[in-house]
This record gives sequence, structure tokens and C-alpha cells, in this order.
Amino acid sequence: MKVVVTREIPANGIEALKKQFGDAVSVHYGPPMSHEQLLEFVKGADAILSLLTDKISEDVLEAAGSQLKVVSNYAVGFDNIDLAACTAKGIVVTNTPGVLTEAVAEHAIALMLSSARRIVEGDKFMRGGNYKYWEPMFLLGPKIYGKTLGIIGLGRIGHYVAKICANGFDMKILYYDVSRDDKFENEFKALYCALDDLLEKSDFISVHVPLLPSTHHLIGEREFKKMKPTAVLVNTSRGPVVDEYALVRALKEKWIEGAGIDVFEFEPKIAEGLAQLDNIVVTPHIASATHEARIEMARLASQGLMSVLLDKKLPENTVNKDVKMKSA
Ligand code: GLV
Ligand code: GLV
Repeated sequence: MKVVVTREIPANGIEALKKQFGDAVSVHYGPPMSHEQLLEFVKGADAILSLLTDKISEDVLEAAGSQLKVVSNYAVGFDNIDLAACTAKGIVVTNTPGVLTEAVAEHAIALMLSSARRIVEGDKFMRGGNYKYWEPMFLLGPKIYGKTLGIIGLGRIGHYVAKICANGFDMKILYYDVSRDDKFENEFKALYCALDDLLEKSDFISVHVPLLPSTHHLIGEREFKKMKPTAVLVNTSRGPVVDEYALVRALKEKWIEGAGIDVFEFEPKIAEGLAQLDNIVVTPHIASATHEARIEMARLASQGLMSVLLDKKLPENTVNKDVKMKSA
């Protein structure tokens, strides 16, 4: 048996694996591996615990070998994995849903507040020793209370962002998704909208869709031009959902007022011109980075892997539930 962990994750996850598999567990410490290093590292593995920085493409599955049974992704998103290839080869893919919902939602709210209330600009101003006297018209931004929030993608995270905003800020909730949720509509007096309608009516827009061919560049130039000039966009989902060059133009030419962005189209690079703009707050893909969420992600990722190898059953957090599991 061989279990490979592509990066260091919280100790509880690694300890749980070592307790079961002992020296059969190899952990790669340090920065992400190159694709070539990854191909070498996975050779002979029965299980891979991967991160969103690893591209688990078909060649990685082949490099591992036909005994590979499970890829456990330390993330809720799994767009880094070739799911169809895994399913075709009988490899179970698991993710870490549920345990990072509050963390990501809190970060979306933090980006919304810091963009609206210009926290980062204020902080830079203070550290630069520029605060000489109080000013009535300096660093003004939009009020949040009672405004309209547009949620794009009503999964667990979108749902929880709406809950915080409806209960905490008395916001009106609009949402767009591929399907409707009557319970959500009743609970928060939320209105289901077509995407264009949501873009035109929302003061704050928060994106919570997975990255799929159908959500790639869901927000581009055309969509930015539909938004209010006072709108603030928040993205904590996946970078390529937003056309980042269009975002730079939208902020530079003031089609919208601001943005709070945690994920980037060409991560870890950011689009040229973005870092020069004052009306955007950027963070390095840290929305799930609470102590609590990361420990729980390590627990779920290691458990998912172990239930495939040891119990030979599909864990609840299986992504490709239609997979035909290997028996050996
Ligand atoms: C983080 O981005 C995740 O998908 O968990
Ligand atoms: C992710 O966990 C989501 O459902 O939003």
C-alpha cells in the first residue's frame, strides 16, 4: 500500500493516515511540485491526497498506475481534477464540502466590507503617516445595510452569505442558480432572477459557482456593463469565472465602484494593471483559511481516502458517485 500527500496539510490529517498506513505514507513538504515532479511522486500510489495547486490530469493517473483507487482533494472545488478520466478508470474522487462553508462566507463578507468601507486604503494611509486631520469627505463608500445583494450560485456557501446579509444587514436578496430553492426563497424573502436581471439590480454581487465549462467567464465585459456604477463585486469561488482583464477595465473605467477578489484567473499571477487599482481588495486565495476549517478539511480528506482503501466503500463526500469502484 502506498499513500502520497502532495503538500503538508494540518497535522491531524497526516497523523490519521500514518496511524493506519505507517511508513507507506509519503508527504511532499515545501512549495507545490512541478508537473514532472508530481508524475514521479505519485508512482505506485494506491491513494493520492491532492491540493487545488495540483493538476490531476490523465497522465498523473497513468503515472500512478492501475492500482490507484482514490484521489482525495483537500478542497471543496475539484476543477483541478480530470473527473471523467478518474471515473473511467474506477478511481474515486472525494472533496471537503460543508466544513469550510462558514469560513468562505465570512471571507466573502470581509471582502464586501473592506471594499465598501475602504479598509485597505485607510490602513495604507495610516501606515504612511498621512493622517493629519479629520476630513468630512475622505474615503467615503456605500452603506451596506438595506441594500440589495445578488448571489450567483446558491450552494451551501452562497446560502450562508445570504443568511448573514439578510439577518445582519437587512439586505434584500436576489439569487441566480441553475435551479430554484423554494425553502430559501421563503426563509429570506429571496427573489430568483435571470442573471442579467440580478446584475442590473444588485448593489453587491457575490459569486459562489463551481468552475465548469458553463461558468467560465460567466462575468465578462457584457456583464460588468449591466451592473450599477455603484456595484461591488466579490469573488471567492474560482478565478476563471470572472474575465479578469474585463474586471481591470471595469474598475479602471468605473463601470463599477469596487471589487473584493480572493481567486484569480491565472493564479498565482494576477492580471496586468490590477495591482495598481485602489478600488479593489485582493487576497491570496485564503477564503477557507480559518484554523477550524483547515483542520476539518484535513480530517475529511484523510477519512475519505481511508474509507475507500480500508472499508472499500464510497464515502459521503465522493464527487463521482457514479464511479465503479475497483475491488482489489
Ligand atoms: C478552496 O478554494 C476550495 O475549493 O476548497
Ligand atoms: C460549496 O461547498 C458550496 O456548496 O457552496
